[in-house]
Amino acid sequence: MHRTFVFLLLFVFLFSLQKITVVSADNTEPPVQPAYTGPESVIIRSTVDVEEVPKPAYLPHKKHQWLECYGCHHGVGPDGKKSDAKFGFKIEKCETCHNSTNELPIKVATLKRASHRLCLGCHQKQNKLLAQCDVCHKAPSERH
Ligand code: HEC
Ligand code: HEC
Ligand code: HEC
Ligand code: HEC
Repeated sequence: MHRTFVFLLLFVFLFSLQKITVVSADNTEPPVQPAYTGPESVIIRSTVDVEEVPKPAYLPHKKHQWLECYGCHHGVGPDGKKSDAKFGFKIEKCETCHNSTNELPIKVATLKRASHRLCLGCHQKQNKLLAQCDVCHKAPSERH
């Protein structure tokens, strides 16, 4: 009689443990980094505000993925400002928004300005060598 009771208690205890586990699994925060991956590398080129001598830029994308996706990718909110990073939102080309037909603040009004603010800004902070024009504007095949 006594033993059955202990078993019953044990059973109830185990069952509740399982419940707790299930509940906490449901409450798990979504991962900060989306599970989908970015491309190996991308060529960024202007199609709206093209310079007389176009200067496409090269981004070894995978190599930069130690950064959170939303350190670079964002959308636009209802207030016209950069929208908060949201898991799984649509990634658009930078120039969709950063072009001179849109009235964005001058510092990011074109693809070149926005790119230099993001890319060159960080590279300058890292070290001088990374801020040289060729680092981004020379095709990987042309580099030694
Ligand atoms: C860290 C990367 C990076 C570095 C370093 C960099 N740029 Fe850029 N640059 C870009 C990106 C990205 C773009 C956007 C691509 C585009 O406009 O076609 C761009 C765009 C440009 C454009 C406009 C090109 C076009 O066809 O519209 C010019 C001109 C330019 N950069 C000049 C320079 C010069 C000069 C330097 C050196 C002082 C330099 N960049 C250094 C990333 C860089
Ligand atoms: C260092 C900045 C940076 C980071 C970090 C970054 N991206 Fe990107 N990504 C870019 C740029 C710049 C482009 C090219 C956009 C353009 O051409 O206008 C791009 C393009 C893309 C594309 C489109 C590729 C194509 O061929 O059109 C996808 C998808 C993408 N990124 C996903 C991701 C994901 C997922 C992450 C995080 C794991 C991520 N990115 C992190 C800068 C970044
Ligand atoms: C859907 C539209 C949209 C897309 C796509 C977009 N941006 Fe932006 N971006 C904005 C808006 C809006 C702002 C805020 C401008 C302001 O300050 O009013 C902004 C701000 C910025 C800033 C300034 C951030 C700061 O803190 O000062 C940089 C740099 C930038 N974007 C780079 C990029 C790059 C690089 C890409 C592509 C990887 C990109 N943006 C894609 C709309 C966009
Ligand atoms: C938050 C910092 C940061 C941002 C933003 C960033 N980079 Fe970089 N990038 C680095 C660092 C650090 C390295 C050197 C380490 C490495 O090669 O992985 C690097 C290296 C590179 C290289 C040389 C890699 C090689 O293999 O030769 C290129 C090209 C480059 N970045 C282009 C870009 C472009 C284009 C953008 C903007 C779309 C960008 N980066 C934005 C930090 C950044």
